[in-house]
Amino acid sequence: MTNYFDDEKNAWDYIEMAKGYDGRELIEVLKGYLPRGATVLEPGMGPGVDLDLLSQSYQVTGSDNTQTFLDIYRQKDPGADLLLLDAIKIETDLKFDCIYSNKVLHHLSPAELSESFLRQREILNPGGFLFHSFWYGDHEETMHGLRFQYYTEDQLLTMAEPLYEVLEINRYSELEEEDSFYIVLK
Ligand SMILES: C[S@@+](CC[C@H](N)C(=O)[O-])C[C@H]1O[C@@H](n2cnc3c(N)ncnc32)[C@H](O)[C@@H]1O
Repeated sequence: MTNYFDDEKNAWDYIEMAKGYDGRELIEVLKGYLPRGATVLEPGMGPGVDLDLLSQSYQVTGSDNTQTFLDIYRQKDPGADLLLLDAIKIETDLKFDCIYSNKVLHHLSPAELSESFLRQREILNPGGFLFHSFWYGDHEETMHGLRFQYYTEDQLLTMAEPLYEVLEINRYSELEEEDSFYIVLK
């Protein structure tokens, strides 16, 4: 199945549009939990802005369900550890100390997100944890055929609490005041 970003022009347009945004503040929080040198899987790496930042401290495997983003990243870093992976099924035999995503899992429906949370638990090393950010809200929209599912903290907790210990859930601002939140799950 193709998606919007399979068209290289759309991927480059996104890269231009997203310039100036990154997960710097989130990664600072992450560093409080995850020791330097730990292994991290990043589903939905997109242009790889966060991948670059994460790689300064961790052994990171970048991934996306769009080959275009992997190809674009490889042009600047031919040795990068990259996998073509869907964030729902995460078909890999590898295990990680942390699974990190920044504004990716809102592309999943609630049922898909529940499936992803189950799968993520299977590919965590003992003591490992998840760190994910979301757009805050309680509606859904579609842009360019891509789903944008806005979640509330309560919705996330309902899905995550049966599977994980919640270490932290916090609101922050990206485009608008308090429009985002991150969750840390063990
Ligand atoms: C907002 S971008 C993430 C940007 C990234 N945090 C960065 O640092 O550049 C969202 C990414 O999620 C990817 N994506 C959407 N649905 C996905 C899925 N089901 N599995 C894996 N990646 C997905 C898109 O291809 C896109 O690259």
